[in-house]
Amino acid sequence: MRISRSEITEQKLYLNRREFFRAATATAVTAAAAMGPTQGILAAGRPAAHGQKFVGVRTSRFSTGQTPTPWDAITSYNNFYEFAGSDDKDLPSQLAPANLVTRPWTITVEGECAGAREYPLEQVLDGQTLEERVYRHRCVEGWSMVIPWVGFPLADFIKTCRPTGKARYVAFDSHYDPRQMPMSLRLPFDWPYTEGLRMDEAMHPLAILAVGLYREPLPHQDGAPIRLVVPWKYGFKSIKSIVRISFVESQPVGTYQKVDPDSYGFYSNVNPAVDHPRWSQATERRIGEFFKRKTLKFNGYGSEVGTLYAGMDLKSNF
Ligand code: MTE
Repeated sequence: MRISRSEITEQKLYLNRREFFRAATATAVTAAAAMGPTQGILAAGRPAAHGQKFVGVRTSRFSTGQTPTPWDAITSYNNFYEFAGSDDKDLPSQLAPANLVTRPWTITVEGECAGAREYPLEQVLDGQTLEERVYRHRCVEGWSMVIPWVGFPLADFIKTCRPTGKARYVAFDSHYDPRQMPMSLRLPFDWPYTEGLRMDEAMHPLAILAVGLYREPLPHQDGAPIRLVVPWKYGFKSIKSIVRISFVESQPVGTYQKVDPDSYGFYSNVNPAVDHPRWSQATERRIGEFFKRKTLKFNGYGSEVGTLYAGMDLKSNF
């Protein structure tokens, strides 16, 4: 299925994002010179082929009853800058399946915890009960989807890592290998892609480590083999293809925040009352729908997560 960009992102917003990436790319001229044969692929996104279904996946009381976005859209309209070298939505599904190597996969746990060591993915999954969590997914760019993730609470893995009392935040790194991701060299980002959560946010039952969607293993373009999903925050907080989890004392700085701290804050909770400097966050375009929807505070998860931010000024802590 091919979704035209104008169907999803307002033209004005799309141009602004383009300008940002054009500016970013201009400063990475030498890096871009190293571009390989992937340059110039302009074909539309390629939906993932279907694979085997997970068995024994439980349902969850945290799932929304809203209609999930079709598989083809979730797996062909993606943000994955390591593969696209921009906010191009088609390239991740063109390039990630053949280039991202997901086996073997290890997560390195480090910092303020008693369980610091390397965890093969099999050990991360050991003893976890997989649940389907049908969550709303709201990108900071103004589009949204409903995604039937499969995963388990991040809190369950954090408990295995036994953080110390000094661990106030959790930082995450994505896998980064420029040989697999030559387009990434077009962006002057400080790779790998990083993100972070406050410890109580990370321990919240809605925050999950996802390993699948539609009851199948995660397609590469969606962050295989394991990614974070934090449904009350803008999508960029939900870091893909995680290889490192660090327990730290001071607030980590995510990739978006580092690139443009005035536009992307540490919290980045979905908030229709706090506009992006260049566009409104009051509404969103749900993929596949014609009329825009009103964006809900905390992406509609306020009754679950509101207490995490009691007494905080969410305009200054955006
Ligand atoms: N994680 C990594 N490593 N690289 C990225 O470019 N993009 C983020 C987030 N996680 C990104 C990432 C953004 S902007 C969004 S909206 C979501 O992933 C998109 O997830 P999806 O492609 O599965 O919809």
